[in-house]
Amino acid sequence: MNIINLNDNSDKLYYVGGVVRDFLLGKESRDIDIVYEGNAVDYCRKFGEVIRENPEFGTIRVKIDGQEVDFASTRCETYPKPGHLPAAAKFGCSLKEDVLRRDFTVNALAMRVSDGEIIDYAGGRQDLENKKLRVLHDRSFIDDPARIIRGLKFSARFGFELEEHTKALQDEYLANVNRDMCYKRIKKELEEIFGSEGRMQNAFEKFINQNIYKLITPDEVKLPDVNIEKLTCDYPCPLSWIVYAGVLGDLSILGLTRAEKKILDDAAAAEKLNLKTDLEIYKAFENASVEAVLLYAARKDEKIARHYLDNLRGIKLEINGNDLKNLNIKPSAHYGEIFDFVLGKKLSNPALTKPDELELAKSQVFSGP
Ligand code: CTP
Repeated sequence: MNIINLNDNSDKLYYVGGVVRDFLLGKESRDIDIVYEGNAVDYCRKFGEVIRENPEFGTIRVKIDGQEVDFASTRCETYPKPGHLPAAAKFGCSLKEDVLRRDFTVNALAMRVSDGEIIDYAGGRQDLENKKLRVLHDRSFIDDPARIIRGLKFSARFGFELEEHTKALQDEYLANVNRDMCYKRIKKELEEIFGSEGRMQNAFEKFINQNIYKLITPDEVKLPDVNIEKLTCDYPCPLSWIVYAGVLGDLSILGLTRAEKKILDDAAAAEKLNLKTDLEIYKAFENASVEAVLLYAARKDEKIARHYLDNLRGIKLEINGNDLKNLNIKPSAHYGEIFDFVLGKKLSNPALTKPDELELAKSQVFSGP
């Protein structure tokens, strides 16, 4: 565990959430969250250099021995609108109230900083041993549907399963999703689960077969035959999550960036074409990202996509417009046809040199009617 030395005897400071879960699992945690049973902003600034403080959220980030640590005031929350961000009802409440508002029992564990004692109000330790994910109350998914994808993330990461009643609550919610929700959190969880390494294909199968995708679309979606995990391992790309999620079709509800929209548009444009020749395949994907080609693979034709990525995408013409001008060919629409002709030849014979390309270009000019 990433233990930090606070030199503080207060019995009001606790590690909480993922860091305690990971400690008990013997795993390294990605970040350290500490709560102070009271006002963390006032109490925790003494621990080091203050990086950022947010008194209205009761949080403060402090740099201690080179490591940035987040301290939060204990808080209870209410959900004024189900599915949307919670409102902090009270800061400085008891640790018990703070942990019982959380997603799963295994994430509701705390460990006192001063003496390392584990505080377990919800039976999280037992669930951790049994590898079970159990919500803390029946409204948990209604309050925050992103927790359904978080459950999927933890089951993929640790091999946990949903406990029976939790699974029933999930099924009940997914049978009648209220899509008026905060999709920012849904997107963040999708990026995390399908953008990381691990048993993602397994998680994706659950995502489709357990109807978790219904959070995003009411349409019926079938599991594609293609193994997307294998695709994204063979062709690593920064936005691999969208190759999985893109199988659902329209993702605009998630609030996509321009780059993400372009991936979907490029894949959709290629899918409309009947790609046969290497030249057609090359031109369909030459301005597309790897993610778009993989999405095409997942939704339409894996063989064509792999052929493009393995054999065609690295091929580039060496001649350009200036070379054609130097051959006394006047700039015109004919340029495009000449380049396509030479490119078509180069795709079947990548060893062609620049002089070969120039010869081929010339043959097109002088072979005209
Ligand atoms: N949490 C929650 N509901 C959410 C998100 C978070 O109850 N929708 C709580 C959980 O107790 C969680 C803690 O806030 O442990 C911190 O959230 P986060 O850092 O996102 O989760 P971790 O459990 O630390 O997961 P990871 O290891 O992926 O960072």
